Amino acid sequence: MTEHDPAESQWHHWPRCWYPAARADGFAPGQIRSGHIAGRQWVLYRAADGTFRAADAFCPHMGAHLKAACVAGQALRCGLHGCLIEPQQNPRISDGLPAIGEGCRLPAQGWPCAERFGLVWLHPPLLPGQTAPPLPFADNGHLRLTASRIIPADWRAMICNGFDLSHMAIVHQRTPEGEPVFDHTAEGGIRMRFSTRILPKGGFSSWLMQRLSGGRIELAHTCNGSSIMVESRVGRFATSGIFALLPQDPPDTPPEHRRTLAFASIGIPPSATLPRLQLYLARFLYLAFLKKDFAIVENMRLKLDGADDPAVLQAARYQSTLESL
Ligand code: FES
Ligand SMILES: [Fe+2]
Repeated sequence: MTEHDPAESQWHHWPRCWYPAARADGFAPGQIRSGHIAGRQWVLYRAADGTFRAADAFCPHMGAHLKAACVAGQALRCGLHGCLIEPQQNPRISDGLPAIGEGCRLPAQGWPCAERFGLVWLHPPLLPGQTAPPLPFADNGHLRLTASRIIPADWRAMICNGFDLSHMAIVHQRTPEGEPVFDHTAEGGIRMRFSTRILPKGGFSSWLMQRLSGGRIELAHTCNGSSIMVESRVGRFATSGIFALLPQDPPDTPPEHRRTLAFASIGIPPSATLPRLQLYLARFLYLAFLKKDFAIVENMRLKLDGADDPAVLQAARYQSTLESL
């Protein structure tokens, strides 16, 4: 354990999993985004046919960063010498490069990339013969609205917070009822089912939840890698929220200085009455709930050896079983 990160030996900073990279909404064909996962740089672009593709960020010719490239059909045209860069799962880069000239085609290391829940997900490149794990959650076909924001917090503290039942009363003015029940999903995540009762004095959003639910909410929280899915039943209203986290800093950054790019994707069943209205209402309630969490986990230095909440311990145990990148 290093002195700056008391949770390092219990919870990987970069588990092997799918990570959210962008919102699909507003990401037009021809646009390029860039970032890194575990220090390995990626570029993500929307090709001319509307599909997303991703590759290592540096041109295989002389290493120009491809965030300055242009999308050309399904490929990227490097800005330095004009080669067309084509992401492939197993590019035969060891065969050497073809004759270089404007418009020549160069294979590049592609990244597994998928669009789901209105978000674009990336997995680091696979070795020959490896297959990507399933995406974190099964698609429930909900209508969705997305949001994203940088939070000055360690993603591990944010996931713990999503499972910590003992903060519910003080931060959210809710009290869990009975014992939570845990199981594993087909995609490999850990799921907690529980119910809560709404307490008075939680502000407007709690008052509204109280009116909608009659005071009781049925919940399932599933953690898979750095993402959580919350499924809730409030009276006759069902919702699902995906909260997917992309760490921004190297693991030697002190936890209290880490930042996380947080994506939210809020959904309701398409069969709901007045679906647009319900969807905006669900998004308002989820974001109001999360605002209370973000304020409290900011600059947290996560420490797990003193944790006694059974749900936090289950989440930490699950995380410790994951491979590290
Ligand atoms: S560096 Fe990209 S084509 Fe030369
Ligand atoms: Fe919370």
